[in-house]
This record gives sequence, structure tokens and C-alpha cells, in this order.
Amino acid sequence: MNATTYTARAHTNIALIKYWGKKNEELILPMNSSLSLTLDRFYTETSVTFDERLKEDLFLLDNSKKNSIKVSKFLDIVRQKAAISIKAKVVSQNHVPSTAGLASSASAYAALALAASKAAGLDLNKKELSRLARRGSGSACRSIYGGLVEWQEGNDDQTSFAYPIKIPTDFEVTMVALVISTDYKKISSRAGMKRVVETSPYYSAWIQNTAEDLNNIKQAILERDFETFGEISEENAMKMHALNMSAHPHFSYFEPDTIKAMQIVEKLRSQGISCYYTLDAGPNLKVICLKKDVQVITDFLSDSFGQEKVFVAGPGPAAHLI
Ligand code: PMV
Repeated sequence: MNATTYTARAHTNIALIKYWGKKNEELILPMNSSLSLTLDRFYTETSVTFDERLKEDLFLLDNSKKNSIKVSKFLDIVRQKAAISIKAKVVSQNHVPSTAGLASSASAYAALALAASKAAGLDLNKKELSRLARRGSGSACRSIYGGLVEWQEGNDDQTSFAYPIKIPTDFEVTMVALVISTDYKKISSRAGMKRVVETSPYYSAWIQNTAEDLNNIKQAILERDFETFGEISEENAMKMHALNMSAHPHFSYFEPDTIKAMQIVEKLRSQGISCYYTLDAGPNLKVICLKKDVQVITDFLSDSFGQEKVFVAGPGPAAHLI
């Protein structure tokens, strides 16, 4: 086999309807379907080379050598599909503004799925790529596509994958990201969601309610109803974070500044600006807004937190080879 290098770029995504809990840990099958927006501003570039001379997998992240069992386990899935046993060199670079704390496993595993499958001689279609990326990190299956993306939960490896949802042309959804902390997560999403599934008394309500949120947000997109779209996103995020506070032992990703930023968004909203917040498994807030309001929102957040903490992102493209 020729040691050809393939390089892929994949963008991060922010979930508007959250995935929070697995029904199968090994295959990463989620308890509920979810919906996200792929972002143009933040992405990962990854090169993969399968090389007969290598004795073990080699992984470099942002120019430093890492010992990642997760990456090797993911490569094992690719090797099994391609019926090869050759070790690989993986070189990955996160293109996230320095100190932004917005690097994500979604862009990482989407880029790795594309580059590694190609380098192993596989020619997977988008659905197969989405299923493969899912095995590295659930949310990665959505980063195979650009724009708004739904991940259908499915009930086995074949039926759990993502697909794009058309964004109406006059629906200019944008995101203002506020960096509150760059510290490593106190509790990983993997561990956090597991604890919630096992111990939150409200988990069954989440499953039922999130399915309704997903239907309603898709209807809002069709109707270009930005207010309902934002409201559902914000409420769904708060329900996910409420699950964390109801787990045993309870936990939270909020920092004092997270609450402060939420109050700023609520104040702007009371003044007539359509803006809504969401946050994933960390304290950094993402404000969902329309393009026309980006300036006023960034000004307000910059005044309180410093302009180096504020980043604007629009809908981003699908994962692709470069
Ligand atoms: O894919 P993971 O294991 O990083 O989990 C992602 C979990 C959330 O970001 C909180 C929600 C989501 O749907 O992306």
C-alpha cells in the first residue's frame, strides 16, 4: 500500500437541540436526536498517513506529540473497515483563535474520519462518513455537513447518522461566542452525560421533551421564525444544564461570568434585540442572533468581558479534503 497522505478540514458545530446521553456507549448511539449549526470560524485540519515503517500510531496535536488511546481506537475502526493493519501518523491542528477555549472533539473526529478513511483507501459516502465520525465523538457526526444539521438517533450503527437541513436563504442566523474560561472541562461530556442518564430523576422527561423541541425548531426553521428558533434553542440548553444540576452527585458547567453574560443577553432581548444563548459542556456562552444585530451584541459583550473574548461565527461548510 502506498503511504499517501490525505488532509481534511472539518468545522466545529454548536448544538441547538442537545445530544446528552447514550443508549450504547461502544457504538455511541444517542438517547435522543439533536440539531446543530456548523460554524465557519473554528475548524480542525488533520493529515493522516498509513505507513508500513511505523511500529505504533503517532499523533501530533498542535505541534506536540500526544499519547491518545482514543485516536488509536478510532484508527482501529478504520483499519478494520479497510482490512489493513498498518499504523498511522496523524497530524492535527486546531484553527481556533488562540486562548479561545473553543476547540472541539466534533471538528477533530470529523476531520480524522475523512482523512483517515481516504488514506486507508476507503471511499465512504457522506452517510458512511457521518457514521464513522460518530464512533470518535457523537457530535462529530454532525460536523461532516455544513449549516444546520440533524443527527437522527437511530437504533443501531447503520441507522444513527446526521444529514443537512436546508437553511432558508433569508434566515441569516449568526453566532457570537463569548469565551469565559479556557480551562480544561471539569467533567468531560462523556462522563457528565453518563452520570445524568444513570442518576437524574428528570431524564425520562428530557427524552420526551427534547423530541418535541426538535420538531418545533424544524417547524420554526421552515417558517423562518427566528424568535421561536432562538427561544427553543435557549430553553433546550437550559433543560440540559438543569439535568446536570439534578444528577447525583450534581454538577454544573456554569461559572459566575456565564450567569452574568446570560443576564446581558436577556437585557438586550428586553430592549428588542432578538438574541438567545446556548452553551455546551463548558462555561462559554454562544449567542444566537441575526446578522444585523451582531455589532450591538459584540459591543455589549466586549464592554463587559473584553473584546479579545468575543468571536463572531456564521454557518460553516461541510468537512472536505484540502
Ligand atoms: O460529542 P461529545 O461527546 O463531545 O458530546 C457533545 C455534547 C454537547 O456538546 C453538550 C451537546 C451536543 O449535542 O453537541
